[in-house]
Amino acid sequence: MSASLAELAPRLATVPASFRIVPLDAALGAVVEGFDVRNAPVGAQLWALKTALREHHILVFRGQQPDDAAFLDFTSHFGTVFAPPRNAPVLGSDPYGAAPDIVLVSNVDDGLLGNAELTAHADHHWTPQPSSGSLLYALEIPATGGDTTWFNLVKAYEALDEPTRREIDGLQLITYNPFLRRRHPLPGVAGVPRYRTPDIEPLTPWVAHPLVRTHPDSGKRLLYLGEATEVEIVGYDASRGAALIARLRAHLLQPRFAYTHRWQVGDIVYWDNQATLHSRTAFDPATRRRLKRISLSGSRPF
Ligand code: SIN
Repeated sequence: MSASLAELAPRLATVPASFRIVPLDAALGAVVEGFDVRNAPVGAQLWALKTALREHHILVFRGQQPDDAAFLDFTSHFGTVFAPPRNAPVLGSDPYGAAPDIVLVSNVDDGLLGNAELTAHADHHWTPQPSSGSLLYALEIPATGGDTTWFNLVKAYEALDEPTRREIDGLQLITYNPFLRRRHPLPGVAGVPRYRTPDIEPLTPWVAHPLVRTHPDSGKRLLYLGEATEVEIVGYDASRGAALIARLRAHLLQPRFAYTHRWQVGDIVYWDNQATLHSRTAFDPATRRRLKRISLSGSRPF
């Protein structure tokens, strides 16, 4: 016997959720209290978590202790693990293009990303089907620094003035792969260009996604743009495009769209890559910061 979602939802809601979802006093985020990720969420619990993620964009679980198998098992309730296309390197990709299910984000023990500041980005934005969400689990945290900030891209889009929204609705944006740029640095240029100009050979493979995307679950429109990755608006004059992107970036990075997380050991933060960016502050390389990340597969943005 089958039931439509509308028929099923009220029935699920009659099962007690047994934990609390407490919204943060910020532009996004909620804390899930009284939930141990080692216990598989059932029925109404899963529904409540998915609904809360759609509404708040990031969920914080405190005091967790899953081993790798339990972490993967919890994650599997929200989708399959992200696997990059072989020709599109991502964090943790090996020389053959495969990436591990669990990525060690750490400045010690052969981890990735070191101790440097990270500019705001959505995971795997430059791939054809970017990740829908990621979960980061804190194992060791320095006393200061290494905070992670998330930005609410729905609110950023909604706060744009009407003429800007009219201008950008329907535009396609290429976000070039930063891992390919590392392999092919521009001679004589320090760092990564924030906008590709005609004198720069495009990195391949590339893919264009809507600059304003529709969230696949909520249907909300949002500004799908990272802070510093090399980008290009398809079919736009380069100087006009670069100026528009710089203006949009300054807009979306405002504190009124942000939540900053001060990590504690045992935290797991689950965020929606389809509605947020995240950045990280630098920290003292003499201290230890060790987290494990699992990213979920996604679908083609529209
Ligand atoms: C990431 O960008 O996935 C890592 C964020 C962090 O280290 O806080």
